[in-house]
Amino acid sequence: MLVNMVPTGQHQLPPLPYTYSALEPVISQTTLRLHHDKHHKTYVDGLNKAEISLEQARRSNNYDLIKYWENELAFNGSGHILHSIYWTIMAPLGMGGKPGSSTMNHIMAYFGNFNAFKEQFKSAAEKVEASGWGILTWQPTWKRLEILMSEKHQNLTQWSGIPILVCDTWEHAYYLDYQNNRRKYIDAWWELINWHEVERRLLMALNGQVTLTMGI
Ligand SMILES: [Fe+2]
Repeated sequence: MLVNMVPTGQHQLPPLPYTYSALEPVISQTTLRLHHDKHHKTYVDGLNKAEISLEQARRSNNYDLIKYWENELAFNGSGHILHSIYWTIMAPLGMGGKPGSSTMNHIMAYFGNFNAFKEQFKSAAEKVEASGWGILTWQPTWKRLEILMSEKHQNLTQWSGIPILVCDTWEHAYYLDYQNNRRKYIDAWWELINWHEVERRLLMALNGQVTLTMGI
């Protein structure tokens, strides 16, 4: 196993960095306890289960349930990542300080002024359809911040992931050549992969690590 790699199915619920009552009166002790101990724990358990099931699928070369387990992987993986961040980016009232100089510089450079950033962030969080998140994200491709809304947790991604190798399976990518035979296109496409570029992207991504919680 590689250094610092989280082993398959071994994700753990990180402890809260404060007591259950520390965020009162904004967030009650009851809400925090349920949210962390029950809801977040469910995502961790679901992520571990999905990873173990996919390992079994690789071993048996049986991908009949691939759609189900990939969905579970994205939903629970993103749920675990976003909740871990959510706990650590909050502090008891009066203890959170002010935006740091890098945060402020990047906010000003892209959003123009702090109020515009704040209003866009709050609106995105408010207007996300059904359940979801408002997210301030660093976009390494463009070297700047961006505000996004996420429905549920994931839309089949795991937040903080950096794409290394991608295959376009929209019909426009293959329909003229392969009609509805998407698998035939993917089999043929596989032979086109530029592994030099894959390696280059992976090396760049390895330099851009942001740990989930302190030390993990
Ligand atoms: Fe939650």
